[in-house]
Amino acid sequence: MKAGLSRLRRPPSSFDIVEIEKEEHQHVEVWVGTLKWWSAGMAVHSKNFRVEDMQGRMDGKNCVVTGANTGIGFSTAQDLASRGASVYLLCRSKERGEAALSRIQSITGNQNVYLEVCDLSSVSEIKSFTAKFSSKGAPLHVLVNNAGILERNCIKSSEGLEMNFAVNVLGTYVMTESMLPLLEKAAPDARIITVSSGGMYSTPLTTDLQFSEENFDGVMQYARNKRVQVALTEKWAEKYKDKGIGFYSMHPGWAETPGVSKSLPGFSQRLSGKLRTWEEGADTIIWLALQPKEKLMPGGFYFDRAEAPKHLPFVATGSHAAIDSIIHNLRSLSGITT
Ligand SMILES: NC(=O)c1ccc[n+]([C@@H]2O[C@H](COP(=O)([O-])OP(=O)(O)OC[C@H]3O[C@@H](n4cnc5c(N)ncnc54)[C@H](OP(=O)(O)O)[C@@H]3O)[C@@H](O)[C@H]2O)c1
Repeated sequence: MKAGLSRLRRPPSSFDIVEIEKEEHQHVEVWVGTLKWWSAGMAVHSKNFRVEDMQGRMDGKNCVVTGANTGIGFSTAQDLASRGASVYLLCRSKERGEAALSRIQSITGNQNVYLEVCDLSSVSEIKSFTAKFSSKGAPLHVLVNNAGILERNCIKSSEGLEMNFAVNVLGTYVMTESMLPLLEKAAPDARIITVSSGGMYSTPLTTDLQFSEENFDGVMQYARNKRVQVALTEKWAEKYKDKGIGFYSMHPGWAETPGVSKSLPGFSQRLSGKLRTWEEGADTIIWLALQPKEKLMPGGFYFDRAEAPKHLPFVATGSHAAIDSIIHNLRSLSGITT
């Protein structure tokens, strides 16, 4: 409270005090919430996990995992392959993708694992990939929108868009919309799982998609992107409810991955050994891929194999009403008209 008030250059009004209390309460709420996102939190939650939930096989199913060469995406792809699925690893680097491909093939013994090279920060690359992939005509059972970045600096994609937004939001949007016809072919069993983040709890949905404010804050932009992913998932579930496709978003918890050590080095060092493993981060993705859809909430947000709230009590993150206007912008930026 004191620190908040000292930021003011005038005597505080009662409005200021309410606002600062809200802000500090928000930090406490979010911080306390994060304790369960560590590895220890999973140990507690796993006491309620049911072994039989994870016994399913995926033989004959086709899965695409974006950002599959490392971290949570790698573990997701490896697990799906170990269950017999045909798995397409979508990676931006041919070299890193090939290394992951041969590792997954040799660990799982499944040769039906393939590499697709595509940079998700580019709408035109995603469109080329999806056109080529769709020409195979095969049904797609599971799309895991896992690839994500937290870029601290304000840099632009090759198409001139703010980089976090280009990958996390527009990339996810274009990939999902373009793959829908293939997912419909796998209905009623098809599903799209989008890897969001608990970071979204700290921010409301905003229509300022490319962070136009003067002082760029990459952590805030990432949180905003992750909020958009949750709201998009909810909207897709409503809009496409008759297509037999399940739409879910999820939070993997804090996992010790290359992405976290690069974007949040201090955080990663301080909590080294306490964060989740890649496999623990992938656990709820796999769970969502395996559960009968009747058990799942359409458009739901999941954490540790259970539906989680989309807003925290006392954190004023409002509603998702702005999603229609956001989709309007995404359509015009991507040229997707569905
Ligand atoms: N780890 C956590 O604690 C945590 C917490 C909450 C949410 N998440 C979310 O979980 C997901 C996976 O995170 P992670 O921690 O495993 O991250 P990571 O270690 O950085 O892995 C991210 C993956 O996405 C790929 N990627 C990034 N930009 C791409 C692009 N333009 N085109 C194609 N692929 C791209 C990366 O490829 P390169 O290897 O080529 O960079 C990598 O394969 C992300 O969506 C992240 O936001 C993670």
